[in-house]
Amino acid sequence: MTVKTMEDLFTETLKDIYYAEKHILTALPGMVKKASSKQLKDVLETHRQETKGQVDRLERIFKLLELSPRGKKCEAIEGIIAEAKDHMEDIEDPDVLDAGMIGSAQAVEHYEITRYGTLIAWAKQLGRDEVVEPLAANLEQEKNADKLLTEIAEAALNQRVAA
Ligand SMILES: [Fe+2]
Ligand SMILES: [Fe+2]
Repeated sequence: MTVKTMEDLFTETLKDIYYAEKHILTALPGMVKKASSKQLKDVLETHRQETKGQVDRLERIFKLLELSPRGKKCEAIEGIIAEAKDHMEDIEDPDVLDAGMIGSAQAVEHYEITRYGTLIAWAKQLGRDEVVEPLAANLEQEKNADKLLTEIAEAALNQRVAA
């Protein structure tokens, strides 16, 4: 599809995040398994369940826009997840691996946050108010996941300093 209008750009970006969410969903179980701290495991598992709901919301958005849900290969998310997989293969120290996975997970969250922020702004601009609420619901979950990951990273750092 060639992008000519703002509508096209919006649709293409929606496909990008749809692809990204589905890709994240396939990567999260492996990360949950590899995480050694209980808090990290829990946050990743909760976010895996949230991500399933996010995919459903995106499918609802496609429906509202009378489009069939289709993804568009997102190189950015593939790169971030490939990096996480490298860490999972290479890093032996469980605490270092947790730190690496938190870093990758936060890179994912920040990517999603920018995408949803942009999509919300464009939806408003295009008068597609009906899709703003589900986009905003996904954005809130990404922000919350990012915040929880920061808290885990800081707690781990404090523990290391105290040790
Ligand atoms: Fe997400
Ligand atoms: Fe996320």
